[in-house]
Amino acid sequence: MSTGKKTIASQTSDLPEEGQNRRQLLLWLSSMGLFGSAFVSIFSNLVFIKPRATYGQPNRFAVGKPDDYPPGTRIALGPQRVCIVREENRVAAISTTCTHLGCIIGTSDTGFACPCHGSRFDFDGVVTGGPAPKPLPWYQVTLAPNGEMEVDKDAEVPMGTYLKL
Ligand code: FES
Repeated sequence: MSTGKKTIASQTSDLPEEGQNRRQLLLWLSSMGLFGSAFVSIFSNLVFIKPRATYGQPNRFAVGKPDDYPPGTRIALGPQRVCIVREENRVAAISTTCTHLGCIIGTSDTGFACPCHGSRFDFDGVVTGGPAPKPLPWYQVTLAPNGEMEVDKDAEVPMGTYLKL
């Protein structure tokens, strides 16, 4: 008498074995999908915690051997944004980043000149004109054991500080 009014629970238990297997397979697949998407989500978030890109030049870098800079030369290294100054037996590194708004400045007959807003600096980086508020920083130059000079842009030194060769 109760065949037309079976409850869902009793219908489930009455499913043939093939139906049970299909249910278990679907349950397993949906569980794997859920765990898989959770794993991918967690993994992708962990990957982005540590940035893998580097931005710009390192602050400590080699600039070559002293003989690469004959006495009297002033060579601006564009990517590193420093000017290597060689005078007789001493070497210095002066920033070529303008202290106004950060443009790359170039060497000129009177020292340095910024192409952006016209700031001018003398050979030591002292402001001689334009809107730049501060002189150009000087950086520490050291001689590495392999004979190459290294500039450390994290180590500012007083103006007029040279590496003696
Ligand atoms: S950025 Fe050099 S003068 Fe403005």
